[in-house]
Amino acid sequence: MTKKITFLGIETSCDETAAAVIRENDKGTADILSNIVSSQIEEHKKFGGVVPELAARAHLENIEYIIDTALKESKISIDELDGVAATAGPGLIVCLTVGLNIGKSIATFSNKPFIGVNHLEGHALSPGLERKIKFPYLLLLISGGHTQFLIVKDVNEYEQLGTTIDDALGEAFDKTAKMLGLGYPGGPNVEKFAKLGDKNFFKLPEPIINKAGCNLSFAGLKTAVLRESKKINGEDKLKYNLAASFQNTINKILYKKTKVAVQMFREKTRKENFQLIVAGGVAANKSIRKNLSILSNEMSFETIYPDLRFCGDNAAMIAWAGIQRFKKNMIDDITVAAKSRWPLDENAPYMKGPGLKL
Ligand code: KG4
Ligand code: ZN
Repeated sequence: MTKKITFLGIETSCDETAAAVIRENDKGTADILSNIVSSQIEEHKKFGGVVPELAARAHLENIEYIIDTALKESKISIDELDGVAATAGPGLIVCLTVGLNIGKSIATFSNKPFIGVNHLEGHALSPGLERKIKFPYLLLLISGGHTQFLIVKDVNEYEQLGTTIDDALGEAFDKTAKMLGLGYPGGPNVEKFAKLGDKNFFKLPEPIINKAGCNLSFAGLKTAVLRESKKINGEDKLKYNLAASFQNTINKILYKKTKVAVQMFREKTRKENFQLIVAGGVAANKSIRKNLSILSNEMSFETIYPDLRFCGDNAAMIAWAGIQRFKKNMIDDITVAAKSRWPLDENAPYMKGPGLKL
């Protein structure tokens, strides 16, 4: 039997301090030996969003304890690791640096390979933790900072088909929750209160739904939610109706844009049977899952969602991406620096700002 690769993963790109120890198993998936996530929700709640300096300080205070706990729980000593992976971007530099530096130090002092992981690659490959994934696949990455359709051809090989031209989907959920006074974190609260409302009550705009390929836009929708939220005088029933109508509009947009992305994927890859993987924090949303599963039945493709504990930010997915890169000999130099912007497809056009032609 060949030796199974074991990695320590560290994640501090935003507001979760996380560490995990992962071992590849005989099925080609992962044994999760430990997966520790310390959320900073309480720290940021009173500000209604992530405050970078507070997040960095919380990472600094927690990181050693979190790594120590992950190692203890896994019953793996540093000596037994095959390597260390830490998120190197994209994200808040002050936050990334905390996990990156400690990861580099552990790797250096224990003489192990170090891998600086792209957080988005962590999300992209995360379903592989639980099941064998077939390349190429279509990825819908929906998180707090990103919203993209990509063809995942292999580890480190991505082709972007579309992206948001303004807000990320998670951001739209978070802002909607804030405008409705539903609290932080926004996404899960909008989902919760939407269940109590009438999804057809408000007619909200569906920006660029019939143009610009599978690029997406949520800014106009957000402005419409703001306008309506001012009229409802904090009345609970109307608030729930607005949350439900917002989520319903998101579902209509995702349905249409995913349909376009599937057509593009089929044209480009000539593959009729393939997997759509929906990853990132927003992939936890059950109504979005249900909506995309309807499309997958209609268009005959398979849809895969990572387990809820691997949708939001976690270090298991970072360790896993580290293992995949290690197997391809993509080992980093210890001087690898934190990057605030780091697209998976470096050749994709930049889709934000004035002068954008759709
Ligand atoms: O992937 P993630 O944990 O962090 C980033 O890489 O950004 O995603 C966080 C985002 C937040 O915007 C959060 O509100 C959203 O995912 N989110 C949800 C749900 N759970 C988390 N959005 C909608 N419905 C949910 N159930
Ligand atoms: Zn993330």
